[in-house]
Amino acid sequence: MNPVRTCQKSVFQLPEGLHYLNCAYMSPLARPVEDAIVAGLRRKRVPTEVGPADFFDTSDAARERFAGLVGSDRAQRVALLPAVSYGVAVAARNLPVARDQRIVVVAEQFPGNVYAWRRRAQEVGARLITVERPGGATPGEAWNAALLEAVDGDTAVVALPTVHWTDGTRFDLAAVGRRCREVGAALVVDGTQSVGAVPFDVREVRPDALLVAAYKWMLGPYSVAFGWFGPRFDDGVPLEETWIARAGSEDFGGLVDYQDAYQPGAIRYDVGERSNFALLPGAVAALDLVLGWTPEGISDYTARLSAPLLDAAVAAGFRVADPAWRSPHLFGLRMPAGVDLQGLRARLADRGVSVSIRGTSLRVSPHVYNDEGDVAALADVLTAVGRGG
Ligand SMILES: Cc1ncc(COP(=O)(O)O)c(C=O)c1O
Repeated sequence: MNPVRTCQKSVFQLPEGLHYLNCAYMSPLARPVEDAIVAGLRRKRVPTEVGPADFFDTSDAARERFAGLVGSDRAQRVALLPAVSYGVAVAARNLPVARDQRIVVVAEQFPGNVYAWRRRAQEVGARLITVERPGGATPGEAWNAALLEAVDGDTAVVALPTVHWTDGTRFDLAAVGRRCREVGAALVVDGTQSVGAVPFDVREVRPDALLVAAYKWMLGPYSVAFGWFGPRFDDGVPLEETWIARAGSEDFGGLVDYQDAYQPGAIRYDVGERSNFALLPGAVAALDLVLGWTPEGISDYTARLSAPLLDAAVAAGFRVADPAWRSPHLFGLRMPAGVDLQGLRARLADRGVSVSIRGTSLRVSPHVYNDEGDVAALADVLTAVGRGG
């Protein structure tokens, strides 16, 4: 039975009349997440309320929940990061890339998973290979085929998203993972635009690193991200040498008894001051919401909610990708020729509909706080600006 049977608007605080279909931009703040952040922030009013255990317990709780969400049985494989770009920098610093080897990305990938690879390629004389997006309304199948073909014996790293941030095109990461293992390449995955809203399992994809920002589909606060790092990173070098990532850091009295050893697993990659007493409790509360609703439940809910919208979009002349290659929670509606962009923006604003316009595509990204009224408002706008409007 789907744990999200009805709209969960009451858990959030979106104003009446705003049809917020833009979780790919950022999720609204849920009540329990806000409460946890405010309570955490207030503890610093009286510093004695923050004890040594607080530097560790909430961090461990966050790791455990994220590990559970992505199918990992070792919470210590999870590092607490401030951003995806930080995790990509950890990966780019530690994965071996030799002169003339290839680093593979896809076209128009989110820049935070590109720049570090560009720098690494320049530094060692490797080549950054961009797999271009094929034409057509459903580029997914041909794009995935081209991607697999681009991964060859010269490939050092494949750095990809789970779904494309602009239109939700899905990448078959289990197949890419298999190909990477065949040729000995590392796989670095940015799960920001789907993890939380769609199932993802590290046992199936077997990435070397998975990086996810908390503030979108994980319903968490800004400036928190999670990194799951596989065994290739067990002996790696962190970006910072934090005191808390060293063995025995729980003993505050012994901190100047400097240690060479790190805490186990990926904890060495934690950002400095990772035990954020306000944001981390919020991230934990958010993960509890996601784990309660489950990614399967959320994805089913968004698929059911979007079905009439997609019908209306097609009837109005918008093009949508084939369901096999688009994600239920994030999809692009390609505008028919001749749509007046300014008119479209004005109508969206008039109806209180929030979506993203990316070139000639509308990016729509619903969640469990949306209901039929939200998608109907967008459908009305599409009908008005599209064919016959
Ligand atoms: C695919 C993707 N990755 C990552 C991010 C955020 O990156 P960072 O945490 O480095 O700011 C975004 C934000 O829009 C995104 O769409």
